[in-house]
Amino acid sequence: MLKARIAVLVSGGGTNLQALIDAQRAGIIGSGEICLVISSNPGAYALERSKGAGIPTVVVSKRDSSSQEEFEKGIQDALTEQGIQLIILAGFMSILSADFVAKWPKRIINVHPSLIPSFCGSGFYGLRVHEAALAKGVKVTGATVHFVNEVPDGGEIILQKSVPVYKNDTPEALQKRVMERAEWKLLPRAAEIVSKSIIREGEDYGKGNS
Ligand code: GAR
Repeated sequence: MLKARIAVLVSGGGTNLQALIDAQRAGIIGSGEICLVISSNPGAYALERSKGAGIPTVVVSKRDSSSQEEFEKGIQDALTEQGIQLIILAGFMSILSADFVAKWPKRIINVHPSLIPSFCGSGFYGLRVHEAALAKGVKVTGATVHFVNEVPDGGEIILQKSVPVYKNDTPEALQKRVMERAEWKLLPRAAEIVSKSIIREGEDYGKGNS
């Protein structure tokens, strides 16, 4: 069966990448295949996870790039080389430019650790999101998977899941709960939904041409 070719972009621990790898093994992702992992950080533990799973990895270091353009060219070249059709941002801590994103309409998805439009946009990433949620005193938070457009965390929402906030939560405890109960479930499901639609589009295009 034809599968959408997926690249996962990471910068850190890679627990969401692990959830995607596990979901592929379990058949939860059946319409797509993770063919490439790109890390913006050479020290990311996510790289060990991808190597362990036998997935080709490329490091495109943000720090070693002389400009955003050069950084994105490195990413684009790796994607082209592998014939990638879907990009999944899984804890990728660099903002992609409007120019880059415009080349991949509805072909980039991101997982964000809050219920968008709360605690999102520029400056809201990783633990900071949970610190802001606790500072505000919300009783419910969660995670969102959305398409990426030129507005940070502003693209169309694909899936969301709520998670309760408890009285004595620390940012770390809340982050763990949001990952376990929401992110690691939503991201593989969204990857399957979008992969399936990419395969269907390809089939419809083929029919139109025959
Ligand atoms: C995850 O919680 C992810 O949602 C968040 O960073 C963490 C990465 O963890 N992403 C953002 O905040 C993006 N704005 P991981 O490397 O273990 O998957």
